[in-house]
Amino acid sequence: MRYFGSILETIGETPLVRLGTRPIYLKLESFNPGLSVKDRIAVRMIAEAEKSGKLRPGGTIVECTSGNTGFSVAMVAAKRGYRCILTTKDKQAKEKVAAMRALGAEVVLCRSDVPAAHPESYQSVAKAIHARTPNSVLLNQYDNPINGEAHFESLGPEIWEQTEGKITTFVAAMGSCGTLCGAAAFLKSQNPKIKVVGVDGAGSILKKLHETGEIDPDEVRPYLTEGMGRDNRPGNYKPEVIDAVVKVGDYDGAMTARRLAREEGIFVGWTSGAATFAAMHLPLAPGDVAVVLCADHGSKYLSKIFDDEWMVKHGLLQAPDLPAHGHQDHVPHVKLFA
Ligand SMILES: Cc1ncc(COP(=O)(O)O)c(C=O)c1O
Repeated sequence: MRYFGSILETIGETPLVRLGTRPIYLKLESFNPGLSVKDRIAVRMIAEAEKSGKLRPGGTIVECTSGNTGFSVAMVAAKRGYRCILTTKDKQAKEKVAAMRALGAEVVLCRSDVPAAHPESYQSVAKAIHARTPNSVLLNQYDNPINGEAHFESLGPEIWEQTEGKITTFVAAMGSCGTLCGAAAFLKSQNPKIKVVGVDGAGSILKKLHETGEIDPDEVRPYLTEGMGRDNRPGNYKPEVIDAVVKVGDYDGAMTARRLAREEGIFVGWTSGAATFAAMHLPLAPGDVAVVLCADHGSKYLSKIFDDEWMVKHGLLQAPDLPAHGHQDHVPHVKLFA
């Protein structure tokens, strides 16, 4: 018989898929059991909390999440028998919240329109729940060094082996920055010439922070993409392993994700569209091998970027242009990724 001892053993070893005829390869983290890259950090952060004695039998795991980490943490908590309380922003797709609840987690929706330091932000609410819950641990993916370490130990080596060391460019969206910086640190330890490009959200401080070393509060404004961008500096942000940061807006990320689905049959999420969009605009030379991290699965956004009415409502598609059958962003016979 060939089988896994538990669902947690199926995490990782995700496929690398070439994008058309370009030297761009998508690392599809949607193949993880929790449908995202965050499975890799959830198991490691919880194992570390158990090892350190911070999490004991009968204990409670608390985490603040844009949805993916929450789903992964809820999955590990279900298997290992812990109570799980998750705080998330009220802008997150409703299917992400439903999925966390399906796995038995208690989910607290918090305001999206306040900075991290505000008492009603999802970070502050998670801290308060942790403080008043005995035998609880707050994983805090933003500053927990195990986040970056998990990617240094699993994602980075997988990409290196799958490309047989030929990778020249690594592109990933930035939230906690654990994915980008953890994997990048491993890749650069193998070949310091590898270029690392971070992808930042429209109303986020990370690009300017990277370029000037400063946090500019004027950069912060509401935007729609989930999981990408920050309004404060996460502990897992390591500027020394990043070569450039680019911003990709809500529209370009959403449209690229929609076209990946229709033209390549690759059903991935919003930030995957943003990272692919960024990679397609890099000046790649012959011999380059660019790996794009696709963080999660498209099914997490069915009520958002894959719903035409929602897209129109948020100004990302124009209603009069919508044909009765089909979509304005689908141009027959003109393949974006050829
Ligand atoms: C869909 C999605 N993409 C990208 C990221 C960013 O990953 P990281 O937090 O490792 O920087 C996240 C983080 O929550 C995410 O949910």
